[in-house]
Amino acid sequence: MSQKEASTLLLFGAKGNLARVKLFPGLFKLELAEKLHPDMRIISVGRQEESHEEWIANVKSMILAKHKDTDQFLLDRFLQRNIYHANLPDDPEAFNKLSLRVKAENFSQNLAFFLSVRPSDFASIVDQLADAGMLDETNHWKRVLIEKPFGVDSQTAQELQDSISKHLNESQIYRIDHYLGKFALQNILFTRFYNTFLEPIWNNKYIDHIQVTNHETLGVGDRTTFYNATGALRDMMQSHILQTLTLTTMEKPKSFSPEDIRAEKIKLLSQIQQVPMDKFEQHVFRAQYTSGEVVKEGKVKGYIEELGEPSIVETYAAVKFFINNDRWKNTPIYLRTAKRLHENATYISIKLKPQNISAHEVSENWIIISIQPSESIHIEMKTKVPGLDDTKTRNIQLQGGIRHKDDETIDSYETLLLDLIEGNQSRFLHIDEVKAQWHLIDPIIEKWKDENIPVHQYTAGSKDPEASKIIFENEDQFWRSGINIVE
Ligand SMILES: NC(=O)c1ccc[n+]([C@@H]2O[C@H](COP(=O)([O-])OP(=O)(O)OC[C@H]3O[C@@H](n4cnc5c(N)ncnc54)[C@H](OP(=O)(O)O)[C@@H]3O)[C@@H](O)[C@H]2O)c1
Repeated sequence: MSQKEASTLLLFGAKGNLARVKLFPGLFKLELAEKLHPDMRIISVGRQEESHEEWIANVKSMILAKHKDTDQFLLDRFLQRNIYHANLPDDPEAFNKLSLRVKAENFSQNLAFFLSVRPSDFASIVDQLADAGMLDETNHWKRVLIEKPFGVDSQTAQELQDSISKHLNESQIYRIDHYLGKFALQNILFTRFYNTFLEPIWNNKYIDHIQVTNHETLGVGDRTTFYNATGALRDMMQSHILQTLTLTTMEKPKSFSPEDIRAEKIKLLSQIQQVPMDKFEQHVFRAQYTSGEVVKEGKVKGYIEELGEPSIVETYAAVKFFINNDRWKNTPIYLRTAKRLHENATYISIKLKPQNISAHEVSENWIIISIQPSESIHIEMKTKVPGLDDTKTRNIQLQGGIRHKDDETIDSYETLLLDLIEGNQSRFLHIDEVKAQWHLIDPIIEKWKDENIPVHQYTAGSKDPEASKIIFENEDQFWRSGINIVE
């Protein structure tokens, strides 16, 4: 069903990589799914002149690169929604001209701005939109989607917030963490709260610890400059991994409305305790990859070789947190992320507390929720081995791929673009979430400036560095490897 009201999407950075790879193919998927209002229009805003014909040919090639033999009627209908507008950087009237054009073309004045530009341009574009009167909601809604990252620490996040909140209410700001658009992440709440047997054990009485893992076999590739200014902690842990943890551990929201879900997420994030500085090395571990061999790529260079200069920036980060509430008090939470490890996988591993069956035997129960590459749930249980020997047991695995063969595959950006147009903020970050996340990450980055904190090394393609185990609370704990379900 298409949307109830028409709107106009203004895409800043329409010639960039994200627009080409994700946004135009994603918008076209919404067209195919009949999700776009008949009068919805897309204005691509760029900084160079370009003819309408050139731009339409450009959009067409972006669509056909992902949707080869597509329906010609729907492709034409989609292309007709599109126009290009040059907002020339040296023209002081540029934003007024843009505003006049939207009115002159008789497009809907419900305006959704997608800022797919460099983070340093977010604030100035919002200022200029406001000066041109394009954010005034008197008669129609106005929404602004801000790409990631929202700041690089608490201070810069606050500065950006101070700047854009001069012109926008919280209900108008859509801060992206594209992980929240992933189906498997959305499914965490459903899995937890729709299955009666999980909720009673989802607490510190039955759960020994939780691990959230995001490992990649990929290295930093040609993004060395970006990566060396960012590191694993800021790139992955500050938002994606903390958000995954939040969905795994938050309380049940009063309802599944966007407001109620966000309220519980904010509460949980504010209950995660900062790493204690006096026990820093038992909570935080960092490392860098050296040359080695990884699946598919074979022999690869080390991080420093790729960068071409010395660096203490981490490509592996592991952190232990505790959540200060009744449900999770004293339950260690281990988060880890790395480039160039042995596996390419994102998953949540939940270790249940052991039951002492006999003096020499304890149970080993794990629940693993796999986010990618497989979307699946895996439960490990202990059973008796058939036969006369009552002492013999083994672990069995109950596993279910969530996705069936014919199920739709939806990219995060399709979900998030639709949410933006429909006004659903539940899969976007509230400023309080962003602040709570930086509050946890800032002290670690600050402490890492101290040259006495070691930067360990690991061979590309290997498992977690042995020394990372220092953050475990006891000797029985270990890094749980992922599962691989063929769907
Ligand atoms: N690419 C990804 O997969 C990815 C993933 C996650 C997040 N992001 C985020 O998404 C944003 C865009 O990334 P990207 O990779 O697409 O960057 P990109 O390839 O550098 O593209 C940015 C585009 O923005 C344009 N631009 C800059 N200022 C503008 C303005 N004032 N008005 C209109 N256009 C303007 C640039 O135009 P010129 O050609 O004139 O400079 C360029 O075409 C960034 O914030 C990034 O952090 C990207």
